[in-house]
Amino acid sequence: MRRWSEGQPGLAFGADYNPEQWPAEVRREDLRLMGRAGVTLVSVGIFSWGLLEPEPDRFEFGWFDEVLDDLHGAGIGVSLATATASEPAWLAQRWPEALRVDADGVRVRFGSRQSWCPSSPVYRERSLRLVQALAERYGQHPALRLWHVSNELGCHNPRCCCDTSAAAFRAWLTRRYGDVEALNAAWATAFWSQHYTTFEQVDVPARTSTLKNPTHVLDFARFSSDELLGQFLAEKGVLRRITPDVPVTTNFMVGSQLNPLDYGRWGLDQDVVSNDHYLIHRHGDPEHGGIGYDDPRAELAYSADLIRGVARGNPWLLMEHSTSAVNWQPVNVAKPAGQMLQDSLSHVARGADGVCFFQWRASAGGAEQWHSALVPHAGEDSDRFREVVDLGQLLGRLGELRGSTVHNDVVLLVDWQNSWALGGESLPSHRVRHADLALRIHGALRAAHVGADVVPVTAHPDDLAAVLSSYRVLVVPTLYLTDATTAAAVRAAADAGTHVLVTYLSGIVDEHLHVGLGGYPGAFRELLGIRVEEFHPLPDGVAGLLDDGTVGDVWAEVATASDDVEVLARYAEGATAGRPALTRRTLPSGAVAWYLGTSPDDEHLETLLRDVCTAAGVRPVAQASGPVDLVRRRSADGCSWLFALNHGSEAATVSVRGHDLVSDRAVGPQLDLAPGASAVVREDRADG
Ligand code: GLA
Repeated sequence: MRRWSEGQPGLAFGADYNPEQWPAEVRREDLRLMGRAGVTLVSVGIFSWGLLEPEPDRFEFGWFDEVLDDLHGAGIGVSLATATASEPAWLAQRWPEALRVDADGVRVRFGSRQSWCPSSPVYRERSLRLVQALAERYGQHPALRLWHVSNELGCHNPRCCCDTSAAAFRAWLTRRYGDVEALNAAWATAFWSQHYTTFEQVDVPARTSTLKNPTHVLDFARFSSDELLGQFLAEKGVLRRITPDVPVTTNFMVGSQLNPLDYGRWGLDQDVVSNDHYLIHRHGDPEHGGIGYDDPRAELAYSADLIRGVARGNPWLLMEHSTSAVNWQPVNVAKPAGQMLQDSLSHVARGADGVCFFQWRASAGGAEQWHSALVPHAGEDSDRFREVVDLGQLLGRLGELRGSTVHNDVVLLVDWQNSWALGGESLPSHRVRHADLALRIHGALRAAHVGADVVPVTAHPDDLAAVLSSYRVLVVPTLYLTDATTAAAVRAAADAGTHVLVTYLSGIVDEHLHVGLGGYPGAFRELLGIRVEEFHPLPDGVAGLLDDGTVGDVWAEVATASDDVEVLARYAEGATAGRPALTRRTLPSGAVAWYLGTSPDDEHLETLLRDVCTAAGVRPVAQASGPVDLVRRRSADGCSWLFALNHGSEAATVSVRGHDLVSDRAVGPQLDLAPGASAVVREDRADG
């Protein structure tokens, strides 16, 4: 297999490139400006199906030949899309049954993008014909570095409720359960008279009069993720057959919340994991209040650590982010000077071997005309483009980092199935989302300059216990759904000496969403020496005070601790007064099992994380003053680079000695960082 980064002197730098939107003179200017900016990799053809195949089986490759030849002539590599992301008008017109149906039974109409049903045999057949034609025509093209399958699979069509999808769902269930009585047991269908006597009676969980069966809904989410994975694998299969040496990827949408695909599982099938990430600002309106972040760049850091976990620690590719504003939030916040570079470095620090954007040139028309780009509407003579040139130069100087990796002493264990389960209709509290506390814990660690890996359960189907045991500290944040294998892996890590911090609402239900009886948290009761009798979730605006001064939020509960458990803080008031809220237990392995029963204020959360790290012997990445983001990449041959990004509004200092690749000068023993400044220091080696 060829390397996707072959022939790239620095770290890859580029964008989605949509030349079909522009006349020839603009395309010529594009090549000149790409040269000026140091672009090395562009994704082409992502939304070009309608122009590449204007009628069924009539391909128009001439214009595309020219695009690829010109890019190659300019020394720019291509991440070549399979162009299947958005179906052409003729497909929707001739085969309307290939369009998806929403939960209300409404079939979407043509006129947007990615409107296809993931289970449609027509879409599958037509898309694979196109993939084959592209692979045969361009498989040997010298510009080709990487196949880019589809685009953000599942972004707009994560679930489909049409009859074809329902039949595919039944086939999936039949494979999963074999016998309908096994399904009845897993779904607890004795409740509300939902018992099935044959798989034929099972429908997709579309519109119902009230609460749906939660396991039915979860299985449909699993099925839908698998169904889209089937499309990816089918396209990859065609590409492998025709171009066995060319690596294949599809761009993920890994952020901290709300993903419809189990990317832990999907990562296993990528030759290189690639990701799209956008900052999500918190907005006042309720519709967006649920997905915004007070500190979107903290969410970026978490997501970049998570995508590295999806890539199982390997370097990955940032396929898209934005130079400035996006076009799909209520107010599209632009990035101040310097932030594009710092956001890019935040991804590189966390393992990205390339930085790309949506998109090269801002569109004059079409649905995304207000999205920022490397070349803004103002053109070349703009601060934004000058920043783009600076970024290109910097990435060109960072080539020595390629292939280096990040490994921290602390790991957070996360799981997409948990975000689906905790997105359900009927739960103890809708204020609990799977990633909220994980994100806050990640932030508290960053504040202490401690790095964290974020590992998805499903990225390690065979080696989860070994992976978890390689860390000094394992955090299990809100892992509501914990199957027996995962519980055993956590236990094995603790037995091997890994300190474990489990938070509230973890280990409550199994893979069928059945509650572990006899006191929560069934999966971790023995490990923690904690037995919870009743949950007392806190409404919005109601604080749960602890006797050590902590202001708790979101959660409280009635728990008892066994004799060998040290209670560090108790609830101070209300129905849970006097009950343990924060505990620690020393295990025979010497490791400590911590339990946290509420969501503490920032100060107490930071104190707790510092205590956990101290007990486990975890040290900061480096010594620094102020809110500096610190991450270290290391190469197999013993080189290391310290990334220091000053996100604060005050000057900061970092203890480091070496050569800063950003300013291109020697630094140390102390590095001074102005507000908003960044450094990437190749550290002097102890051996000289
Ligand atoms: C996604 C898509 C792009 C574009 C951007 C806009 O990442 O892949 O095609 O729509 O969003 O932010």
